[in-house]
Amino acid sequence: MSDNDRNSIHFWLNDERVSVTQPEPTETLLQFVRNKQRLMGTKEGCAEGDCGACTVIVGDLVGSELTMKSLNACIQFLPALDGKVIYTVEYLKQPDNSLHPVQQAMVDHHGSQCGFCTPGFVMSLWGVYVQRQGKETPPPSRDKLAYALSGNLCRCTGYKPILDAGQAMFELPKVPFDHANAVQQLQQVKSPDSLRTAGFYSPHTLAELVSLKAEHPQALILAGGTDVGLWVTKQMQTLDTIIYLGNVAELQRLTETDDWLEIGAAVTLTEAYARLEAWYPVAELAERFASVPIRNAGTFVGNVANGSPIGDTPPWLMAVGSEVVLTSVNGERIIALDTLYTGYRQQSRRENEIISAVRVPRPQADQVFRTWKVSKRYDSDISAVCGAFQLTLDGNRITAARVAYGGMAATVHLAEHCEKALVGQPWNETTVQAAMKALSQDYQPLSDMRATASYRQLVAANLLYRFFLETAQPSGETLTQVRTGVLIGGGA
Ligand code: FAD
Ligand code: FES
Ligand code: FES
Repeated sequence: MSDNDRNSIHFWLNDERVSVTQPEPTETLLQFVRNKQRLMGTKEGCAEGDCGACTVIVGDLVGSELTMKSLNACIQFLPALDGKVIYTVEYLKQPDNSLHPVQQAMVDHHGSQCGFCTPGFVMSLWGVYVQRQGKETPPPSRDKLAYALSGNLCRCTGYKPILDAGQAMFELPKVPFDHANAVQQLQQVKSPDSLRTAGFYSPHTLAELVSLKAEHPQALILAGGTDVGLWVTKQMQTLDTIIYLGNVAELQRLTETDDWLEIGAAVTLTEAYARLEAWYPVAELAERFASVPIRNAGTFVGNVANGSPIGDTPPWLMAVGSEVVLTSVNGERIIALDTLYTGYRQQSRRENEIISAVRVPRPQADQVFRTWKVSKRYDSDISAVCGAFQLTLDGNRITAARVAYGGMAATVHLAEHCEKALVGQPWNETTVQAAMKALSQDYQPLSDMRATASYRQLVAANLLYRFFLETAQPSGETLTQVRTGVLIGGGA
């Protein structure tokens, strides 16, 4: 521990400066605001990041720019909020006790029924309100509001009135948000020194992070906490030592080269996908990945590191040939992502290694690529099957094929038999049908609450067929067969 290290955290909560010495490593922000600060507006619905009743807005500095994002307080550990400004629904109280325009619009449009979800909706809407401050553009469309509310669940089905309120709030007398004050507050609580409290380390450099990992090989790496948070709140696990990587400067970078986009381990899903959408058609997948607050907290690399067989990012990263940068006190090691997962929740990563970045190759002109997620709901749902496909074409001949699925096996992996059926062949109906059949040799999926094994096999084959329909040269033969039902029967 260096002389400069701290054991206290400092942040602003609704314009009040708060310091906590020796914070409990896994106390959540929600527990802190309700139990310690007695701010009861922020609710606990699910305690797993699903319902949005606990939504708060958290401000931070990126360079000198203020960013404001919605987060689920129920799965954020308090020490990770060190150096931030936090706003709960109580912040919206006006000096004369009148309602903030967001709240007034909710009242005017009957947006609150039982009211339990309401503070969460209000905070998500306030996030939109603050971001649009000073902009002369028209109020957001209903689609944009629905996007911002993707992490808020109303069991009383008040969505229409809530969307009405979201549009009407801009028509009421404005309540400006003081950006400059928030920036000043952040500057006051940002510390250059690493945090070391009992059970929670927050290093500021990569060298410090990997030496902590070497010193404490069993310590848990914490990134956005959108998986880890639930191990505490739902599985009631006790986590002994946590090393938080969110403040490591080197890991916050997105670096573009001629060959790669390198995404550092602290880059959120929101930030990473915003860049990747310009390279690959992944906008729909990104929008369907959890919800806005989960993507604001969760990291892109965390999805890879977590290694869930139903994670949505590994299939397409594997299909485009991504690499993983592993870093330890011994230096850096780069491996292909398709060699990372060795079994259910098992990885070829060594005990002292962290994933410092993922490298996504730049797409090439002779390649076609698609990825799709199949789940029961559009927003905030886990995939039953997630498929990703990339072909390199010389004219209409396939010179290389990479196909990967999630939800089909104990790990996300490449579909080798399917790929073999594609390479060297013309990209036509006969080839895709053969490749769809070959898939049954690559995966023997399970039946579970999300889907049966036979449904998964059928959907996996049909996604490949959709890829064919969207990327092959149009032909009369293909279209006729789609109309006569080959799409549904093929490959089943
Ligand atoms: P954390 O929770 O911090 O960590 C996850 C695991 O990875 C831990 O074991 C941690 O030790 C390890 N880890 C993290 N970073 C590193 C690193 N750099 N090096 C080594 N180990 C590391 N996932 C989907 O794929 N699709 C969804 O639609 C989806 N929906 C969700 C909805 C909800 C409501 C919730 C709560 C989660 C959802 N998830 C979903 C899961 C989760 O959001 C993602 O897996 C996320 O990317 C995890 O990143 P994180 O930064 O939060 O990881
Ligand atoms: Fe449901 Fe936090 S309590 S998302
Ligand atoms: Fe009852 Fe939304 S108003 S849950």
